[in-house]
Amino acid sequence: MRETATLWWDDALPGIRFIDQTLLPTQYVIAECTTVDRLITAIKRLEIRGAPALGVAGGYGVALAAITCTGTSPDAFVPAVRHEAGRIRESRPTAVNLSWGVDRVLARVLAAPGAASAQKAALDEAKAIAVEDTRCCHAIGDYGAALLPDQCTVLTHCNAGALACSSWGTALGVIRSAVEAGKKVKVIACETRPLLQGARLTAWELARDGIDVTVITDSTAAHIMRTGAIDAVIVGADRITVDAVFNKIGTYMHAVCARHHDIPFYVAAPLSTFDATRMEREVTIEERGREELAVVGNRTLIPEGVPVKNYAFDATPMNLVSAIITEKGVIRPPVDIGALLSENNAY
Ligand code: MRU
Repeated sequence: MRETATLWWDDALPGIRFIDQTLLPTQYVIAECTTVDRLITAIKRLEIRGAPALGVAGGYGVALAAITCTGTSPDAFVPAVRHEAGRIRESRPTAVNLSWGVDRVLARVLAAPGAASAQKAALDEAKAIAVEDTRCCHAIGDYGAALLPDQCTVLTHCNAGALACSSWGTALGVIRSAVEAGKKVKVIACETRPLLQGARLTAWELARDGIDVTVITDSTAAHIMRTGAIDAVIVGADRITVDAVFNKIGTYMHAVCARHHDIPFYVAAPLSTFDATRMEREVTIEERGREELAVVGNRTLIPEGVPVKNYAFDATPMNLVSAIITEKGVIRPPVDIGALLSENNAY
């Protein structure tokens, strides 16, 4: 099984190198980023995407800010880095990992006695986030693999794979670990309208690893669950509040369908995705542009002047979740998320 990195720091730039996910599956291009502006564009365009990968990108982004703000006076250095950190944090609002990564590295900048030590501390912390993320994904994979039957078909939505993390993946990490443990796992990947992360990215990375994957339209999921062909649904998460799991738009309908057909609905996510301080109603769901729905290639699909609603995420109430698979083990709602995080010192 491959252990491909999705994004990493390159001292020679200095800056971030990453797989440009907008070009997959037809082109595999490693892009580079040496400014905060370029990073923000990459995040907004989903060149870098997926909650844990956004956490890593946020961390590297603050390190980049610390390096590129050195032209400022010593007094202006910290405010300048703080300003850039704020811009990165706001580039996508729903995945809590982004602000988590930004804040974790910014804290190291604020604690440092000067610009040079701040730069080093920021980069060390950002690199640590990336290493920890891979470790978390493997732990999630091992805990999750134990939940799957020796032979099974799993439905997933969007891409919660290596491409959405530092490597290995959360939901797809569970599948990788299960396959590595000798289980025979077939994957049904929902295409994930409108940006097709399931069809383009999940199918690409699983096929590349030799894992059995079939793509369906999102609207086929209910039908296929009803036929009895699905043993479990496994998805990732962008934010887990006390009462809900935020993930790619469409996740909620899979959870409802899974409950209706008595299929376990698993969420695989690191503790960095938990937001114990908020309830569902306090979270902003990102809304994206009309063109993502209205235009495919050169074709216009929606009549001019007709508005669209393009929510990037939805919230699944906790009572529809069978279990959350974390790097510390499997937890079954109802769970006291605040107590869980303080026990694990995640914040
Ligand atoms: O808009 P995206 O592609 O960033 O959305 C990604 C998802 O919804 C993933 O399922 C989620 O971030 C979990 S990734 C391990």
